[in-house]
Amino acid sequence: MADELIPEPPDTPAAPDTETQETAAEPIKTRKNGLYPGVSDELAQNMKSGWADTELHGLAPIPQAAETAARRAALSARFPGERLVIPAGNLKTRSNDTEYPFRASTEYVYLTGDQTQDGVLVLEPKTGGHEATIHLLPRSDRENGEFWLSGQGELWVGRRHSLAEAEQLLGLPAKDVRKLPAALKEATGPVRAVRGHDAGIEAALTDKVTAERDEELRVHLSEARAVKDAFEVGELQKAVDSTVRGFEDVVKVLDKAEATSERYIEGTFFLRARVEGNDIGYGSICAAGPHATTLHWVRNDGDVRSGDLLLLDAGVETHTLYTADVTRTLPVNGRYSELQRKIYDAVYEAQEAGIAAVKPGAKYRDFHDAAQRVLAEKLVEWGLLEGPVEKVLALGLQRRWTLHGTGHMLGLDVHDCAAARREAYVDGTLEPGMCLTVEPGLYFQADDLTVPEEYRGIGVRIEDDILVTEDGNRNLSAGLPRRSDEVEAWMATLMQS
Ligand code: GLY
Ligand code: MN
Ligand code: MN
Repeated sequence: MADELIPEPPDTPAAPDTETQETAAEPIKTRKNGLYPGVSDELAQNMKSGWADTELHGLAPIPQAAETAARRAALSARFPGERLVIPAGNLKTRSNDTEYPFRASTEYVYLTGDQTQDGVLVLEPKTGGHEATIHLLPRSDRENGEFWLSGQGELWVGRRHSLAEAEQLLGLPAKDVRKLPAALKEATGPVRAVRGHDAGIEAALTDKVTAERDEELRVHLSEARAVKDAFEVGELQKAVDSTVRGFEDVVKVLDKAEATSERYIEGTFFLRARVEGNDIGYGSICAAGPHATTLHWVRNDGDVRSGDLLLLDAGVETHTLYTADVTRTLPVNGRYSELQRKIYDAVYEAQEAGIAAVKPGAKYRDFHDAAQRVLAEKLVEWGLLEGPVEKVLALGLQRRWTLHGTGHMLGLDVHDCAAARREAYVDGTLEPGMCLTVEPGLYFQADDLTVPEEYRGIGVRIEDDILVTEDGNRNLSAGLPRRSDEVEAWMATLMQS
């Protein structure tokens, strides 16, 4: 933001007009006095008028409007007679008047398709169900100067949809969110809210909600997301397809990463994510050499060296906020060494076994168990563990090097459905429409004295996004090669181009 646009501080900040102040739950927030332009009466008057009417009419609903309506209907059926409050969340200050990028809460996005900061979905109980209303900030007020004097005014941050426009897009009645806290305070009857996103809304409900009842709502919304509808599967495929292109981008610039650092890889993938999607779905793990043994290496400030492996774990988040979560472990120079290949192929074999175990009716744990068994067998075969394999598995001894679970649900959150009950998730059964990652790995820490020296500092993970289908599964990320010889051939093509 250009400081030269900001003249002297004002004597008095512009006052919101009386009518807006009466109806607003909170006064309009203005930029800090010290940074704020001086406003003469003449200028304030001048800024009120001379603006075209830009209201949009006849807007088509968002593509997922039918699906969000069905999700709200399922929620309504689960909590009859109760008011349900689902906030998008607010901006978080990074410093002074600078904010972190906003990302609406998963629950709100799931139920509305909207991503607007400060939005709140309310399901108001009615006979036979609920009436859903979305509460949003309306267009910036021109009369009171909010549009140009408030830090979140449209002149500073961009045009918002009017409430009438939002209604057309989302298929929901829309109201002014600034009146919502007062209305919630006054309302009577049972209420539940999704916590952790909007302190103002929570404050309005303090005396009306309990942590236990709110948790039931969060759990329900987590479990409801386990089976993806056709729209969601399409979005996940888009996320994966962009991610495949992002991995190709990275392979093409490995020489530049060698000349700089892991940051070149992070930046390259991020460019793809921002150009084709909303963002990355989680911090990209660009782990070269021994950094590959650090599961969530996101500092990405290390050297990239020929002869080492690069573990790249990254996912594009679509404009609708569905994310991919894909890992490939690539030889920086395009060819695996003998030992790297041995370890890579073992992880590949484990992943093959894991993917084969993903099918409707299988226990969720089956794919993990299948992959762990292969890895335990390899570790025994290589003499790193003493057999028999059954004993290794019973004691979990392979975990010194396998470290993490073999996968998780994927969707709007990279670790989707995380609030689901055990019986609905890790102790549950796979169903068509579930989407999960299968991501076994082997990690030999640089300081692990229990393995031969040449193993130390090698980390391999292979991660794909697998959709459970009626008759088995579909690998959404099959566009990226996985087998070691296929990875090498794919890299060779890209590195020549
Ligand atoms: N990228 C985090 C994970 O694979 O779970
Ligand atoms: Mn991952
Ligand atoms: Mn994952």
